[in-house]
Amino acid sequence: MARPKADPGARDPRFLRVEFPAPAVSGEGPFEHVALVTLDRPEVLNALNYQLLGELASALEALDADEACHCVVITGAGDRAFAAGADIKEMADQTPVTLTRKNHFARWERIKRVRTPLIAAVRGYALGGGCELAMACDMIVAADDAVFGQPEIRIGVMPGAGGTQRLTRAIGKARAMELILTGDQLPAREAAALGLVTRVVPPEETLLAALRLAARVASMPSVAVLAAKEAVNRAFELSLEAGLEFERRNFYLLFASDDQKEGMAAFIEKRSPKWKGR
Ligand code: CAA
Repeated sequence: MARPKADPGARDPRFLRVEFPAPAVSGEGPFEHVALVTLDRPEVLNALNYQLLGELASALEALDADEACHCVVITGAGDRAFAAGADIKEMADQTPVTLTRKNHFARWERIKRVRTPLIAAVRGYALGGGCELAMACDMIVAADDAVFGQPEIRIGVMPGAGGTQRLTRAIGKARAMELILTGDQLPAREAAALGLVTRVVPPEETLLAALRLAARVASMPSVAVLAAKEAVNRAFELSLEAGLEFERRNFYLLFASDDQKEGMAAFIEKRSPKWKGR
């Protein structure tokens, strides 16, 4: 059977830097079991062209398949932007036929399927596809100069990679509708107050704060982390009854893991657990 073609650039990315383990930052690290993925087109505020999106989906899939990788931090090169959206110059000449035929936006589905926790470290602009990418992550650590928004309406379209759904679920209809219909920007502090952002930190501390958070997640029993992430994400897809059922089954399943035995024994014996990841 013919194998599906890998994304071009998957092996030798042009617009992405992947470092695993994540390197030391400000003298702290390297960060074992944590990967750092950097969107690397700072001259265009890390605009997400199709090549970059393909490289990102492939890199995340490869890290997801690596048992040693327990958490991934995604950030943007430079200090001006996480990502200022899909690449408008590349999109300008598209037609419904080329969009359907090439289906580049399906790469967003591949990112959604990644099971390893993803943390966005956001400085500056997270607009359009950049905001959508941050929201596709599991947590967002934002600089206090970060701004979020879905400005697509101002260029004649609307969000196309999850903005209408994820922003609305994260901050509620009233504010999401206003932001999407006006293209206004949402500053980091308000984004945090509305529940979009996990933590706001001084700009120069953003990456380190995200890596520290990732290291804490990475130090937890990894199968329980996968199961818990999966269950939290079901909250956006299922009815309460089905979601509670899903949660209960994942909870029961974890009693088959060595880490459940170890975690509870360590608590009872008043010692630190030694996780095996199985
Ligand atoms: N696509 C392509 N290039 C972009 C870009 C984008 N989304 N955002 C910025 N750039 C480029 C600019 O064209 C400029 O390049 P040149 O120097 O070659 O002209 C460079 O990055 C720097 O940008 P500016 O000069 O515009 O910087 P600024 O400080 O004046 O403004 C900004 C910053 C407000 C973020 C502004 O760049 C901007 O509005 N960008 C577009 C934001 C946007 O509309 N994003 C949504 C895209 S559509 C989308 O994402 C669809 C989807 O749902 C997937």
